[in-house]
Amino acid sequence: MYKIPANTVFTGKNLVFVPECPSTNLLAIETSRKSAAVEGTVVITDCQTAGRGQRGNSWEAEPGLNLTFSLILKPGFLALYKQFLLNVVTSLALKDYLGDKTTDTFIKWPNDILVHQKKISGILIENQVQGGLLLTSVVGIGFNLNQTAFRSPAATSLALVTGRQHDKNEELAGILGRLESRYLRLRSGDERRLVDEYLDGLYWRGQPHLFSSGGIRFEGTIEDVDDDGRLRVRTAQGLKAFGIKEIQYIE
Ligand code: BTN
Repeated sequence: MYKIPANTVFTGKNLVFVPECPSTNLLAIETSRKSAAVEGTVVITDCQTAGRGQRGNSWEAEPGLNLTFSLILKPGFLALYKQFLLNVVTSLALKDYLGDKTTDTFIKWPNDILVHQKKISGILIENQVQGGLLLTSVVGIGFNLNQTAFRSPAATSLALVTGRQHDKNEELAGILGRLESRYLRLRSGDERRLVDEYLDGLYWRGQPHLFSSGGIRFEGTIEDVDDDGRLRVRTAQGLKAFGIKEIQYIE
């Protein structure tokens, strides 16, 4: 069970805990379709059996050890073409939260949060659109908390980073508090500064690296992210913008 966080105004005040479910994103989408779920509703589980990731991938998390939850937002104030800003605020919130606990935290475009170059958290935002407006956004977060063994050598957890186990309620409240304050800044129109902070925290930005696109490897330097949320990379052929499925980081 999880406690209602005390450090937020609306985020997590309606907390839906299910011991097990296929995907909290799916459950949050169904919940918001069926009933008018209030903004800030958090759907959380201890055991996700079919966790969804970006690019059709799955999200694996050992039951009971990690945070797997979805936050329902109603960003009616945000034009549809600005939906990437939800990714910006979520990434910044996770980076803020981790910044209190460790150093060397980066946002790896489009949806990964890294600590010491390893993935600690992933974000999957799924939007419901009506009449060209963002009706509901389900912000799904998988956060590796107390798991200490991973199949992928590229994964880490807060327990591995800090060398101790963490209380799930406390850390959930910490993340939700950061999410709410970043989201409120977006709601108050602070878009430019949020994007600038996001760019400041972007992994590999400003350094030449190897990428791959359409099976072709090339050297490039990440410059920024365009208004549609595409990654802009300076290459020998000029500045190119890549969508989520169009570029891989190599080394
Ligand atoms: C990624 O890195 O590919 C995104 C992973 C997102 C996983 C979270 S776990 C909670 C929520 N429910 C899901 O099915 N997915 C997201």
